[in-house]
Amino acid sequence: MKFFIDTANLSEIREAATLGIIDGCTTNPTLLSKEKGSYKEILAEICSIIEGPVSAEVVSLEAEGMLKEGKELCKIADNIIIKVPCIREGIKALGMFKREGIQTNATLCFSANQGLVVAKAGATYVSPFVGRIDDVGNPGMDLVREIVQIYHNYAYPTQVIVSSVRHPQHVYESALSGADVATIPFKVLEQLIKHPLTDAGMKSFLADWEKVQKK
Ligand code: E4P
Repeated sequence: MKFFIDTANLSEIREAATLGIIDGCTTNPTLLSKEKGSYKEILAEICSIIEGPVSAEVVSLEAEGMLKEGKELCKIADNIIIKVPCIREGIKALGMFKREGIQTNATLCFSANQGLVVAKAGATYVSPFVGRIDDVGNPGMDLVREIVQIYHNYAYPTQVIVSSVRHPQHVYESALSGADVATIPFKVLEQLIKHPLTDAGMKSFLADWEKVQKK
């Protein structure tokens, strides 16, 4: 399973990249609004740090506007891919981007039918938002499992990015479901590595090694 980093914060992205396990990055208007500086400069910098796909989202509500905006975003760097919302005009835009040879990420996906429709429209990726579904009292990971099954049934090439990840459980459940990608906030990435038994084990090994040195 690929790991994308779900942030527009350059310090977090630089730090995460040093681990050597990050395959891409996802941003959205909210994440970019938290950072200082122009969004184009931030995206350009992210693209220089991360070799894989970097999602940048369009905000137009009409397909033609989405296409125009997406083409502008693509000028920032070769690894920009365009996030398009799962709305009626977004479905039209996905086909337009495909015909232009531009990769897309169908975002704000909350149902298996949306997942099916965006695959038929030619989306490169789909992003089911598991955390936001959990927030309203439904199991978000069920949606991921359904979309993975549907894509498997019909051999759709659209890749599933588990999005709105809130905790480590979402990550290993993504891997168990067969999802292609999990896009992970920096805090959760750190939580994946940390384990209290590893820390306790390290503490006692280091203390015992001190004793070995004194012999
Ligand atoms: C990623 O592509 C999404 O925009 C992001 O995961 C949304 O996360 P949130 O639901 O925590 O805002």
